[in-house]
Amino acid sequence: MPPLILAHRGASAYAPENTIAAFRLAHELGADGIEFDVQLTRDQIPVVIHDAAVDRTTNGAGRVRDLTVAEIARLDAGTWKTEDFRGEAIPTLAQVFQGLADWLHPVGRVRPCLINLELKTERLTTDGLEREVLNVIARYGVQDRVLLSSFNPFSLHRAKTGNPRVPRGLLYYSGLPIYLRQTWLRFWADPQAMHPEHTMIDARYMAWARRKNLQVNTWTVDEPAEAQRLAKLGVNAIITNKPDVIRQAVMLPTASSSDGSTTAS
Ligand code: G3P
Ligand code: MG
Repeated sequence: MPPLILAHRGASAYAPENTIAAFRLAHELGADGIEFDVQLTRDQIPVVIHDAAVDRTTNGAGRVRDLTVAEIARLDAGTWKTEDFRGEAIPTLAQVFQGLADWLHPVGRVRPCLINLELKTERLTTDGLEREVLNVIARYGVQDRVLLSSFNPFSLHRAKTGNPRVPRGLLYYSGLPIYLRQTWLRFWADPQAMHPEHTMIDARYMAWARRKNLQVNTWTVDEPAEAQRLAKLGVNAIITNKPDVIRQAVMLPTASSSDGSTTAS
């Protein structure tokens, strides 16, 4: 089975990252779901933004945790990308679930959106992020659509305590110090999936993950050849800024099937 294609911060190669416009475009481009980042505002509302500060992706300034949701709602999060996206806002998590209702709850046999919600926190003790995120997930009845992920195993541990039914994926990359690797991180996070940076994946890694009964969802892959390598190794999902390009890449016939010999079933 080809890997699922998850649009990283939405279709963020073409639309401003972590906005409803980028998520809707991901749907139009044939993604199976989206990845986005969530933090708390000063008044404890989960909002969708990657950086700790609003400066890079909006016309405002300051740290997300120092701003209220009303202050954040006034910011323009689209124009930095191109003028076409003027007026695009930093969405709250609730607004994302509302804005994607047709994709989250499709009619008929269409595959619903998979949401990979990244908990953006470096805190050892909670600021309430996990509790507030789980509350919104429950309010919109999307427990079965969401996969939580984080680089922070303590955040995933808190999420598990809050609602063990929502699955968890542990993010990590090759630059992490050796003591922050796999073994004891997994103890805290108790994940169903690993989310390694794509350069860490080879046949040995996949064999290890299968032995541990862990899914493998990898990021961030925009190169067709790399996507094909990962698909061949059997990863479960590829997180990409270009869902259209990567979808096409993993659908392409391999060399062994290009003469049609392996296409008949
Ligand atoms: O979830 C994959 C990826 O989003 C992790 O890195 O920095 O883009 O959130 P970052
Ligand atoms: Mg992320």
